[in-house]
Amino acid sequence: MASTPSFAPFVFLLLVIGCTARPFYPLPSKGDGGSRKPLQNFRPYNIAHRGSNGEIPEETHLAYTRAIEEGADFIETDILSSKDGVLICFHDVTLDETTDVANYKEFANRKRTYEVQGENITGFFTVDFTLKELKSLRVRQRYKFRDQQFNGMFQIITFEEFITIALDADRVVGIYPEIKNPVFINQHVKWSDGKIFEDKFVETLQKYGFKGSYLSNNWLRQPVFIQSFAPTSLVYISNKTESPKILLIDDVDIPTQDTNQSYWEITSDEYFNYIKQYVVGIGPWKDTLVPVINNYMKTPTHLVSRAHAHNLQVHPYTYRNENPFMHFNFSQDPYMEYDYWINKIGVDGLFTDFTGSLHHFQEWTSKRVDHEEEDMNDKTAAKLLHKIALLLSSYKLS
Ligand SMILES: *[C@@H]1O[C@H](CO)[C@@H](O)[C@H](O)[C@H]1NC(C)=O
Ligand SMILES: *[C@@H]1O[C@H](CO)[C@@H](O)[C@H](O)[C@H]1NC(C)=O
Ligand SMILES: *[C@@H]1O[C@H](CO)[C@@H](O)[C@H](O)[C@H]1NC(C)=O
Ligand SMILES: *[C@@H]1O[C@H](CO)[C@@H](O)[C@H](O)[C@H]1NC(C)=O
Repeated sequence: MASTPSFAPFVFLLLVIGCTARPFYPLPSKGDGGSRKPLQNFRPYNIAHRGSNGEIPEETHLAYTRAIEEGADFIETDILSSKDGVLICFHDVTLDETTDVANYKEFANRKRTYEVQGENITGFFTVDFTLKELKSLRVRQRYKFRDQQFNGMFQIITFEEFITIALDADRVVGIYPEIKNPVFINQHVKWSDGKIFEDKFVETLQKYGFKGSYLSNNWLRQPVFIQSFAPTSLVYISNKTESPKILLIDDVDIPTQDTNQSYWEITSDEYFNYIKQYVVGIGPWKDTLVPVINNYMKTPTHLVSRAHAHNLQVHPYTYRNENPFMHFNFSQDPYMEYDYWINKIGVDGLFTDFTGSLHHFQEWTSKRVDHEEEDMNDKTAAKLLHKIALLLSSYKLS
């Protein structure tokens, strides 16, 4: 359709742009926690694993804000440290896989080999870079088959910046930070006041008001789960914070990184009896709950029912929509996978790379009905935006 451009569409265009453009790092929360839509806790938690990293490079500001838009209950992150002791959100101990560090001539001599959990690893380690240096790098997508268009656009963020994203959300969004590789971090980073990594981790949470046991009023206002593969770290911080803790459990052939205990030992009834004094749940790799052979799932183990018998929640990881990750039983359909784990296995939370998919599935099958009036407001706003978009598309803006 040809038409003479008039003034009106441009006004609307400016309106739309004005609505969607946001400051990259919003100012810290105005502390309006009381009136925000609360965390849902009538259905399993949607835990946005490294943010919406199926779409956006992991653990970046946009990956987290996207996950919040898509309906995450919790945004999840891995905490490591810079050389100068600043806690950062980053998964690998080395920068090689998910940043452009290899392109910087000035860092070429930083490559090192360190022993990490009994294995020699060579690369550029976060613990050899100051925060300022880390901020000069840009993050990129981990998997080749995912959208590469955001590569090189975003910086590594700090633990404090991550917390601010959750506190600034327009509803209550929890955080789910991991004390990552604590043995390694404490070997390589020293804090001047004699504090260790775990102290700094808890101090950061407390600085922003995270406190209180699971489902306490403080917790509901600022929900948090602290996770770690290292039982010693969880036990150590239990005297410092009541915030709920989750023991992560790796594959069946990987011993714990600090206590060198086997998978079988830490999933025994005896161990559950011990660890439940310190943690509210476990976070196992999902293929240990339901073993997989040749990409077909076998008979489920009793681990979920045994954990539940000890009053421990189960939050397995990681759900990913793509063919390379999905087991044949689900016919490449992530909704089938969510249905199986939520309704058949009965887990209490799911770490997903695709928060939007899990959210849609849960809204279809177990709709959130509180605050209906807010949903109505959302719908009215969405309709208005849709009308504006239609109006715009009826003009050729060339
Ligand atoms: C790592 O390399 C060092 C130095 O070559 C060696 O002494 C050590 O045994 C190696 N560790 C492992 C786990 O291979
Ligand atoms: C926690 O505090 C109690 C009482 O002060 C002490 O007996 C216990 O050893 C502490 N536990 C840890 C893990 O530090
Ligand atoms: C961990 O335990 C295994 C099996 O018991 C043992 O062979 C290995 O030497 C232990 N490693 C360390 C670092 O203690
Ligand atoms: C997955 O599919 C295989 C092959 O059809 C079947 O034997 C197995 O029982 C299925 N697993 C589950 C957990 O349904």
